[in-house]
Formats: sequence, structure tokens, C-alpha cells
Amino acid sequence: MVNAAGTVSAVGGLPAMIRFLALFAFVLGGPAFAAEPMAPPGAPADAFPRPDRPVAEIVAPRWSSEAERDRAGEFEAVAKGMGIAPGETVADIGAGSGYYVVRLSPRVGPGGRVLAEDVTPDYLAALEKRVAGLANVTAVRGEPHDPRLPAASVDAAILVHMYHEITQPFGLLYNLAPAMRPGGRVGIVDADDVPSRHGTPPALLRCELTAAGYRETGFHPLKGGAYLAVFAAPAPDARPAPATIRPCRDATTRR
Ligand SMILES: C[S@@+](CC[C@H](N)C(=O)[O-])C[C@H]1O[C@@H](n2cnc3c(N)ncnc32)[C@H](O)[C@@H]1O
Repeated sequence: MVNAAGTVSAVGGLPAMIRFLALFAFVLGGPAFAAEPMAPPGAPADAFPRPDRPVAEIVAPRWSSEAERDRAGEFEAVAKGMGIAPGETVADIGAGSGYYVVRLSPRVGPGGRVLAEDVTPDYLAALEKRVAGLANVTAVRGEPHDPRLPAASVDAAILVHMYHEITQPFGLLYNLAPAMRPGGRVGIVDADDVPSRHGTPPALLRCELTAAGYRETGFHPLKGGAYLAVFAAPAPDARPAPATIRPCRDATTRR
């Protein structure tokens, strides 16, 4: 639409053009992915110190084959250790290809919800296709320092085989805390190994979580040299100010 000043108005022409282009893209190959953040941005990444240790690259959307994981009883051990119950909202941070998501969906049931969050667009696109028929699952696009989850919405958050890949762990933990309901549990599953071999030594994990104001409430060894560490997040107003957080040094990660 051309207005009196001779410029193109957004009222008529532009939205119609966008709708046409979106339809065209969809007909050609479908949308790349539709997952959006669920909350406004929290504190920015540059407010936080970097971790004083190596961070592993993101290399795959899964830890190992789902059949092997089932044979090892991984999901059951983690769901039990986390006390996941019907009706709860569970956030899977770094959901990848959705090994946990498709098992959590029936576990929390129709009265519960699974927020399947990730930062890698291709992985999110494939995950959305996988969970298309699961009414209680929502895919969420987060940022490496901020899961972008709604305030006070999450009963349990799991971070499985991904902690060693978080480029800004202090930012992620700070911005995750307000999404947790009071009494919510944050469970971290990782290999007891250095980040370059896709793990996090438990002592280093404890140090970083403590620096971010989290309190350890449980620790469960898992098969294959992995562990589940469970923490309580600080209340939003009890979080350490970003500038006061001191990164942890860990000799083992420097070998
Ligand atoms: C090795 S895969 C594990 C996927 C899944 N949790 C599992 O156990 O099969 C690591 C996942 O974490 C995601 N990831 C890495 N850094 C992240 C971050 N800061 N926030 C959210 N997801 C992240 C990657 O995109 C990838 O999908």
C-alpha cells in the first residue's frame, strides 16, 4: 500500500509479501525450525567470567546409541534419581536428538510438560519433527548462556552429557535459576572425565555450581563412568552478582 507521502506502508503490502514468502518456503521444504525462546533475555553473556578450563565443541546431537543407553538403564536411573513424577514440568537443557524428551513425555503424562531446549538450529529442526505428535512437548530455542525458559515454570531441569559444551556455564546457571520453581531440582549427567574427552570432573562441577550459588542435594554414580549430580538452584534474589563469580581452576582439565 502506498501512503500519502509516497512510501510503502507495512499495513497492506509487506505482511502479504511475508506470508507469500513463508508459504513458498514451506511448500519447498518446510520451515527450518519453529522453536522460539519462551522468555525474554536474562543477563548477557559478557556480564560473566569465562570458565577457567577448556570447553568441548558441540559435535553431535546425542551421547550414544539409544539402544545401548536403554540396555544400561540410563533413563530409568536418571528419572529415579531426579524423582520425576507425573504432572511435573521438566526442562531438558541441550535436548539434542531427544533421547530423554520422548521418554519424559509419557513419564510426566498429559498433566505435565517437557520443555526441550537446545542451541543448535539443525538439531532443533530434527527434534521438532521427532516430537511432532507429542502434545506435552515444546521445543525451545535457547542461547549458550541463557536457556530462555519462563519464570518459575520448571520442577526439574536435566543437563545430560552437555555441561562440558556450555561456553558460558556461569551465565547459563544464573539465567536458569529464575525458571526453577521453589524446591525444583537441577540434575547434571556427565562422564567423570575432562572436557576434551566430553566429561566434567565432579569436583570441578561442584566448584562451578557452588560459585553460581547452587547447593548439591544428591550424587548418583551411573554405569559406564558417568554420574548424576543433583542441585538446588538459588532463589532469584539470592544469586551471586555476575561480576562477583570467580571461575574454578582444576588441575585435571589442564593435562
Ligand atoms: C552430546 S549432545 C547430548 C544430547 C542429549 N542431552 C543426550 O543426552 O543425548 C549435547 C547437546 O547439548 C547442546 N548444547 C551445547 N551447549 C548448549 C548450551 N549452552 N545450551 C543448550 N544446549 C547446548 C548441543 O547442541 C547438543 O544438542
